[in-house]
Amino acid sequence: MCGIVGAVAQNNIVPVLLEGLKRLEYRGYDSCGIAVHTGTGLQRVRSTERVAQLTAQVAQDQVQGLTGIAHTRWATHGVPATRNAHPHFSGLSHGNARIALVHNGIIENHDVLRLELQAAGYIFESQTDTEVIAHLVDHLYDGDLFTAVQQATRRLMGAYAIAVFCADEPHRVVGARQGSPLVVGCSSQGNYLASDALALAGTTDQIMYLEDGDVVDLQLSRVWVVDRDGHSAERAVHTVYVHTGEAELGPYRHYMQKEIFEQPRAVGDTLQNIESITPELFGDKAYAAFSEIDRVLILACGTSYYAGLTARYWIESLAGIPVNVEIASEYRYRTSVPDPRTLVVTISQSGETADTLAALKHARSLGMNHTLTICNVATSAMVRECELAFITRAGVEIGVASTKAFTTQLTALYLLTLTLAQMRGRLTETQEEQELKALRHLPVAIAAVLALEPQIMAWADRFASKENALFLGRGMHYPIALEGALKLKEISYIHAEAYPAGELKHGPLALVTDAMPVITIAPHDELLEKLKSNMQEVHARGGELYVFADADTQIGSSEGIHVIRMPEHYGKLSPILHTIPLQLLAYHTACVRGTDVDKPRNLAKSVTVE
Ligand code: M6R
Repeated sequence: MCGIVGAVAQNNIVPVLLEGLKRLEYRGYDSCGIAVHTGTGLQRVRSTERVAQLTAQVAQDQVQGLTGIAHTRWATHGVPATRNAHPHFSGLSHGNARIALVHNGIIENHDVLRLELQAAGYIFESQTDTEVIAHLVDHLYDGDLFTAVQQATRRLMGAYAIAVFCADEPHRVVGARQGSPLVVGCSSQGNYLASDALALAGTTDQIMYLEDGDVVDLQLSRVWVVDRDGHSAERAVHTVYVHTGEAELGPYRHYMQKEIFEQPRAVGDTLQNIESITPELFGDKAYAAFSEIDRVLILACGTSYYAGLTARYWIESLAGIPVNVEIASEYRYRTSVPDPRTLVVTISQSGETADTLAALKHARSLGMNHTLTICNVATSAMVRECELAFITRAGVEIGVASTKAFTTQLTALYLLTLTLAQMRGRLTETQEEQELKALRHLPVAIAAVLALEPQIMAWADRFASKENALFLGRGMHYPIALEGALKLKEISYIHAEAYPAGELKHGPLALVTDAMPVITIAPHDELLEKLKSNMQEVHARGGELYVFADADTQIGSSEGIHVIRMPEHYGKLSPILHTIPLQLLAYHTACVRGTDVDKPRNLAKSVTVE
């Protein structure tokens, strides 16, 4: 998704800006651009190709400067095109460009502002909401960029993080945020702005997190922050270790494949140093918080939402606490019945998902103040916003399709389940020991499932020609079926739907023909016999069943029934193991179809707009 880098420094800032864009690339974008102050005016290069092509163009044009901004764009308003790429300039209609601006987020009142600015004589070159902000700043500019940005942001409705500079003030960049993340990086060489500290890795580890409503003035010798009320504000500077994101592919074809195979390590790391089940795993205040709650509300999007759905089965059955799981973008806009004795749990790989952050704020505004996040990025907004946090140790996930983040989220949620169960007297010491033993064995069990890759590749060859697929699961494996269908559709572009197997006869069975592959998750649990009946319903109608069956289920291959045997049943942790073959199936099917596996069309890694 969109990324921002900005800098005022003693030396040429072009390498820092381009390196920053490179680090943000994995999030997904469709165009990119850079603008600098050359000392005499503004210079800009924009491209609808990759950052590498932009870099080549910048070298060819000999772009250099001590002040500048750069951007990766993920289109919302206006098609991916050079004219819509950022930075946007203003002032062109009066002669030379005066204002350069980049923006993440969405301006909801852009139509009204556009009409107003057109009436004032501004000519729009793009279809974006961003160009409105550039012209508005120019329109309000009266010799002081900071004041102009302050005034302009008061007129904006929606979400934004912006970085702006002005031809008349060569050593100054002004930033502002509301709803979209923006950080300041400080060093003796210069001061920087970025939408994520990751963009500044290698440049500075001294990071200041701006808050909603902040406007920041960046000059070579000072960083000055003013809050939404216009008061000078202190924002702490943190030393932040960020992974550089320069992950080697090694023997793998794609990051997604690498990340699938990293799962034994990722789950092992997530469990590292956990000797016993204790609330402190979730933070110092966890004991007090967990003692004051009677319910759990889980808020998340996409794959993280499916992790939440799985956790509901665990928490309700093992800890006996009612759980509600909500899609974040729906929850924030629906009238719900809040209960202050609720533990609000957000789940997010990136910790920057706008919908989940907004849902969290909404829950808090309803009086639910005990908040916990299960998150993969320790420096993210989600971790800063929540009272409690559990950091999964998946490591940087580059593939847009979430894999190792999901299984580490499940691992963390299982630890949460055990903790809540223990606090309610539902976990004996012997059970705790057995559960910890099973968790510690997970990396080995996952590795055994990964060894099924060659058999799954053979299935993928057949799947590649399909345009539709159904996924079936029951009980706590239903969310895993949902996750399998999401993986297949997002990277192979095959239309896939998941159903609880018992629901098939209530409608979707009408879709079943010999052209419809039906992927079935068949663990050896208490619902197995019911599931077998559901499989017969498909078989009797000529459907092709592709079954991932636990070794002891006695489900055999026959005409129209293809079986891959999973290792032995893994009890309550079985959903984690059954996720792995579905990831591999989606991955290899996408490879056969030749899609851009790590950067599927239209998608972004970190979804920072509503
Ligand atoms: O970073 P988050 O976990 O908050 O992201 C949520 C979803 O956008 C994400 O899981 C998305 O569904 C993935 N592309 C799925 O593979």
